[in-house]
Amino acid sequence: MTHLLVTGGAGFIGANFCRLITSLRPDWRVTVLDKLTYAGNRANLAGPAGPAGGSVEFIHGDIADAATVGPLVAAADAVVHFAAESHNDNSLTDPTPFVQTNLVGTFVLLEAARAHGVRFHHVSTDEVFGDLEIGAGTKFTESTPYNPSSPYSATKAGSDHLVRAWVRSFGLDATISNCSNNYGPYQHIEKFIPRQITNILTGLTPKLYGTGEQVRDWIHVDDHNRAVLDILERGRGGETYNIGADQPDINNKQVLELICELMGADGYEHVADRPGHDQRYAMDAAKLRRELGWQPQFTDLRAGLVDTIAWYRANEHWWLPAKQATEAKYAARGQ
Ligand code: NAD
Ligand code: DAU
Repeated sequence: MTHLLVTGGAGFIGANFCRLITSLRPDWRVTVLDKLTYAGNRANLAGPAGPAGGSVEFIHGDIADAATVGPLVAAADAVVHFAAESHNDNSLTDPTPFVQTNLVGTFVLLEAARAHGVRFHHVSTDEVFGDLEIGAGTKFTESTPYNPSSPYSATKAGSDHLVRAWVRSFGLDATISNCSNNYGPYQHIEKFIPRQITNILTGLTPKLYGTGEQVRDWIHVDDHNRAVLDILERGRGGETYNIGADQPDINNKQVLELICELMGADGYEHVADRPGHDQRYAMDAAKLRRELGWQPQFTDLRAGLVDTIAWYRANEHWWLPAKQATEAKYAARGQ
C-alpha cells in the first residue's frame, strides 16, 4: 500500500487529485494537509471520495508549520505538493501570503522530506517561464529559461528552484511538473472560466480583461492529475515534466464568446486589464508523452466546457456563498 500526503488537497486541483486516486488506486491511503484558506473547502472532498470508495484523511494545518509537517511527512511514502496561493490578481494586491506559503511552505516541506527520506512531487505552473508572443507558434519546453512576471509566478519559480537545489545538494528524490491553465469542477469562482459561468448564472455581465487577446493553454483538471500520477509512479527522479494538452491557440475573448454561446448569454464587458498581464502560454509536453506515454483524454475544449457549465449549474450551493465577496474584491480593482 502507498500512503500519500497531499498538500492543498481541499483546493481545486488537489481535491480532484484525491478523487482520482481513490478511484484509480483504491488501496492507497491519502492524507490531506490543508490550511483551508478562502480557496480551500472541505466540501471539495465530501461524499464518496471516488467510485471505488477509497478513504481520505483530512488534517487542518499550515505547510509552513514545521511541527505539523514533520510527523505527517515521516508517516508518508510520498508527498504530492499542491498547496499554494494560486491567483495572480490576489498576488498583485498583497504578495505576502504568496511568499509565505509558496516559498517558506515549500521549504518546510522539503526539509521534512529530506529528514525522513520521503519521495516528493512538486506541482508547478507554466507561468514560471514568463510569456510568449501572441501568434509566434513557439512553446515552452523544460529547458526554457525561467522569467516569471507576477509575484505569484515568481514565488512558484522560486519554489521550483528550491526543489532542484534539494535534489542536487541533498539527493532528495523529487520530481517537478509544470502545467498550463486547468479548468473543471470545484475551481474557485475567482478564476476566469468559473467567474464567467457564475456571472451568467447570477445575471451579472461577464468580464474580459483589456482586449482579451491573451492566450491560455487550457487543460482539463483530470488530464493534469493523470499526468501527476504517471510522474509520481514512473517519472525519473530529479526530472521536470511539462504538462499541456497541445490544443490550438485560443484567446480569452474566444473562450468567453464560446461560454456565452453555450449558455445562451448575450454580451460581455471589457474591464481594467491585469497589470503585467502575460500574453501567451503554450506548453510542449512531448517529454511526458514520450517517456511516460501520457495523453490527454479531454481534447475538445467545447465539450469540456459543456460539462463544466453543467457542473456549476448543478452545484450552485457550492459556489453561491462565495460569489458576493469574490465580486466585491474585483469591483474594488475596477474589474
Ligand atoms: P487553489 O487555490 O484552488 O487551492 C490551493 C489549496 O491550498 C487550498 O485548498 C488552500 O486552502 C491550500 N493552502 C493554501 N495555503 C496553504 C498553506 N499555507 N498550508 C496548507 N494549505 C494551504 O489552487 P489550485 O488551482 O488547485 O492549484 C493547486 C496547485 O497547482 C498550485 O500549486 C498551483 O500553483 C498549481 N497549478 C495550478 C494551475 C491552475 O490552472 N489552477 C495550473 C498549473 C499549476
Ligand atoms: O497557467 C497556469 C496558471 O493558470 C496557474 O499557475 C494559476 O494558478 C491559475 O490561476 C492560472 O493563472 P491565470 O492568471 O492564467 O488564470 P486566470 O483564471 O486568473 O485568468 C485566465 C485569463 O483570463 C488571464 O489572461 C486573465 C483573464 N481574465 C481573468 C479573469 C478572472 C479575464 O479576462 N477576466 C477575468 O474575470
